[in-house]
Amino acid sequence: MSRSCLAVILAAGDSTRMKSSMSKVLHPVAGRPMIAHVMAAIASTGVSEAALVVGRDAEAVARAGAVEGVSVETFLQTERLGTGHAVLMAKQAIARSYDDVLIAYGDVPLVTSAPFAAAREKLAQGADVVVIGFRTEKPTGYGRLLVENDELIAIREEKDATEEERKITWCNSGLMAIDGRKALSFLEKINNHNAKGEYYLTDIVEIARAAGGRVVAVDAPETEVAGCNNRAELAFLEKLWQERRRHELMVSGVTMIAPETVFLSYDTKIGQDALIEPNVVFGPGVAVETGAVIHAFSHLEGAHVSAGATVGPFARLRPGADLSAGAKVGNFCEVKNGKIGEGAKVNHLTYIGDAVIGAHANIGAGTITCNYDGVNKHETRIGANTFIGSNSALVAPVSIGDGAYVASGSVITENVPADALAFGRARQEVKLERAKVIRERALAFKAAKKATK
Ligand code: UD1
Ligand code: CA
Repeated sequence: MSRSCLAVILAAGDSTRMKSSMSKVLHPVAGRPMIAHVMAAIASTGVSEAALVVGRDAEAVARAGAVEGVSVETFLQTERLGTGHAVLMAKQAIARSYDDVLIAYGDVPLVTSAPFAAAREKLAQGADVVVIGFRTEKPTGYGRLLVENDELIAIREEKDATEEERKITWCNSGLMAIDGRKALSFLEKINNHNAKGEYYLTDIVEIARAAGGRVVAVDAPETEVAGCNNRAELAFLEKLWQERRRHELMVSGVTMIAPETVFLSYDTKIGQDALIEPNVVFGPGVAVETGAVIHAFSHLEGAHVSAGATVGPFARLRPGADLSAGAKVGNFCEVKNGKIGEGAKVNHLTYIGDAVIGAHANIGAGTITCNYDGVNKHETRIGANTFIGSNSALVAPVSIGDGAYVASGSVITENVPADALAFGRARQEVKLERAKVIRERALAFKAAKKATK
């Protein structure tokens, strides 16, 4: 029989150490707020009820914490009196007497379902409190796990720890599981008699033991449970997140030549046999299909790259860029809200915005779709098998029919029918011998000036 479970997520902190005008848990890792990472992990654990404790930026945090599959109740903590106090804000929810209560902090963005599942397993085996610990080379700032005869006897906060205790590298992740029927009785015994004068959730270890309860610690890798107190730690978490995701993608069949230079977003999807060259940045909302090649120094966001398409080097795909199979977008090109048809080529120094380009079109170097009139955006339609000469400006709204040609250097303001050739430029004139006349006149002028000196 499956056990009922409530997840309590603490996200009310003042984030003083972040030195930020915004709540810590709203700071992004891999392009999404830390709190959203934590909630996604809760959802993937199969927990469907959550209590989110909010304080600073309450509305924004609640919004960022919404996740599919979990009904989230929010509780406001108006005073920041510590993690023990924060959990009790959700008293009304905890009092519904779940089998398991999971506690998570909102600043642990690398978390996966694994440590939650491991902790719940221990509760099922009869533990009353399960602390999820991790070993780290940088324990500063974390609560240390004090162990005696293989039993977790206490968690000591940095500020309350002795010199000796500070050398301990086994730390409290802040993730915890508590027997849901005993949780309130433990939590209500927490006081604020410590160095910070705060209600420490971590005191629950000694409280449960004093009540004859069983307390155990389980281990999780640092790469899953590390927390964030300042911007240096934020950058460290980003690094860990990126390393983990790059590894997953490479193991799943994506080639990266210099993975440490490729930056991914939380939702980046890359298919098997895709090749990602060095220094590529993926913003949110990108899907790259099998066999596609992203050349060096490209920047993609909200874009879809179909099988076998190539991008870059030095290309920028903005939201709504959609490359069909085998399409090419080359160096110094920008595509925004533009569909590039199968096998079409947009190879050099081009801007494509609000446009649909048909299959096998060839867009010459320096082509610009003039999509904006200063107020509204307009669409450009370019048919299949068209040839747009270099340095053309296509002034939208405008359409170029299938198979049409546009002469190089044209400014196209009117629709071009299929298979037509459009010129939108001054006609060339050639004046024989004229250059020679001008040159001789200039030389004569110079000679006359010298003679009068
Ligand atoms: C806490 C733990 C520490 C652990 C570390 C892991 C306590 C006393 N200490 O320390 O053992 O190693 O996390 O990262 O629990 N929060 C509130 N309301 C409050 C105070 C905090 O909602 O009144 C929230 C914060 O938004 C944050 C989380 O609780 O998401 C942890 O608070 P934080 O101040 O970062 O705790 P630490 O001192 O890092
Ligand atoms: Ca913290």
